This record gives sequence, C-alpha cells and structure tokens, in this order.
Amino acid sequence: MANNELTATGSETDTDAETDANRLITTAVEAETTERTGVSETVIETRDLDVYYGDEQALDSVSIEIPEHGVTALIGPSGCGKSTFLRCINRMNDLIDACRVEGEVVFKRKNVYDDDVDPVALRRTIGQVFQKPNPFPKSIRENVTYGLEVQGKSATDEDVERALKGAALWDEVKDQLDSSGLDLSGGQQQRLCIARAIAPDPEVILMDEPTSALDPVAASKIEDLIDDLAEEYTVVIVTHNMQQAARISDKTAVFLTGGELVEFDETATIFENPSDSRVEDYITGKFG
Ligand SMILES: Nc1ncnc2c1ncn2[C@@H]1O[C@H](COP(=O)(O)OP(=O)(O)O)[C@@H](O)[C@H]1O
Ligand SMILES: [Mg+2]
Repeated sequence: MANNELTATGSETDTDAETDANRLITTAVEAETTERTGVSETVIETRDLDVYYGDEQALDSVSIEIPEHGVTALIGPSGCGKSTFLRCINRMNDLIDACRVEGEVVFKRKNVYDDDVDPVALRRTIGQVFQKPNPFPKSIRENVTYGLEVQGKSATDEDVERALKGAALWDEVKDQLDSSGLDLSGGQQQRLCIARAIAPDPEVILMDEPTSALDPVAASKIEDLIDDLAEEYTVVIVTHNMQQAARISDKTAVFLTGGELVEFDETATIFENPSDSRVEDYITGKFG
C-alpha cells in the first residue's frame, strides 16, 4: 500500500507539505475504496446517545449506523469523546462510576443497555483492544484461552492456533506458547491482545488507538492485520492519525469538540469532499 508515500516528507514549505499530505491521503483513499464493495447491514446503531461524566457532557446526541464488516474509523481532536463513544458500544462505561449514558445503543436490533443484557457476555461478542498492549502476566497460550475459559469452555490447541493465526502471530510464537506474553515485543503483545479478543469468536472488535504506542513497522503490521480482520469482523477503530484512517477505513466518523458527531460518510468522501466546513478545516489541519 501507500505507507511509504504517506510518511514521505521533504517539501519546502508548510503549505506545500500540507498540499502533498492531502494529495497523498486522497491517493490512498482512492486506492482503498474500491476494494470492499456491496451493501452491508447495519450492525451497531446509536440513537440520540448522550453521555455525561458528572455534570460534564462528553457526547451530544450521537446517532450513527455502523455497517457490518469493514473498518469504521472515528477521528477528531483529543477530548471530543471518541473513547467514550467506543466504550458505550460494549458497555465498558459501566465500569466508570461518574458516567451516565442516555439514549440507545442497538446491536443487531437489541438495545445493549436493556436490563436483560449481560455486559460480560456482550464484551465477548464485542471485543476490545486498547492503546497500550495489556497482555496478562501469563503464558501466551493462557492469554489466548482466557476468553474461552471464563465462559466455562475448555480451549483446545486448535482454538489457540486459530486465534494466533487470526492475529498474524502464530508463526512467530508457535514454539514458545508456554513462555510469558510479557516477553514479547510491543507489536507482538498487541497482536496477542487481538488474538485474545478473537478467541471467543466475537462479531465486533473495538480498537482505541491500537498502534499509537508502537513503532512504525509494528504499527504497519497491525494495519495489515486490521484489513484482514475486517473480512470477518466489524472493526471500529479510534485513531488520531488521519493518514491511518484514510489508509485502513471504509467509513469515517468525525467527532468535534463538545462530543458532537459532525459527519459520517465513506472515507473517500470525508477526505476529498466533506460537506461540513468544520470537517474540512480539521482534515486540512486548520485546528485540532
Ligand atoms: N473517566 C472519566 N471521568 C471523567 N471525565 C472523563 C472520563 N473519561 C473521559 N472524560 C471526559 O470526557 C470527554 C471526552 O473524553 P474521551 O472520550 O476520552 O475523548 P477522546 O477519546 O476523543 O480523546 C473529555 O472532556 C474527558 O475529559
Ligand atoms: Mg481517547
């Protein structure tokens, strides 16, 4: 893909650099958008979602329909509510005392905030990967089997192999499954966390800036992996890296300060021809 081009600099002035960056983003988007086609069903829909931490409002009436499979990127300046939004989808915000959620989050026609939804089971179906790789201080094998064993299922060697292959880690670790997950490199640890998330066979994988703690080579491996995962799973990824959003996502949601979802569309449209002037300003680096 256009990874090298996108990181290339060398322009004489800031304005040139900006124009180059935009042209390169556009090129990457054009290359990407034809790959995954076909009409897709909505898998996650929020309706008038408001989130508060105490008296502070973090999301303001967010309504969005996220399609099944493919990659949906959430972008926007720091503090605009991207992580808060992601945590609503699998009720991770339940774990924050001050947090109050109003409105609906519908996953396959069911409001995940209904009383009869078990949040622990929900989080296996809608798995999550965090910014900083967080393997358990256990063996590679135990990190992968954890998700199955908490369900009372015994995990077979085949389950472990399938999850590690799915996370593009198998070839690197197959001879050391009983060594600690913490002995792996940062990029490998993040792929182990992805293996842990996919072991219980989820439908959605949420990722909150999954490459921002990694070096460029490790980050690029994760980007390639996300592209593969999107064939089978719905991937929703927060990134503060607009070039990454342009490279890897099919649709992009732009949040702006105040927790407002300003625009949601095909990634190519967001980067080439956004409707909202604030999105254009954000994309071209005028603020944020
Ligand atoms: N656990 C929390 N307690 C209180 N306020 C929070 C908490 N998490 C986030 N916030 C506030 O909610 C707003 C949105 O934060 P966040 O969702 O982390 O934004 P982003 O991921 O876009 O940077 C910010 O004003 C932030 O300070
Ligand atoms: Mg965040």
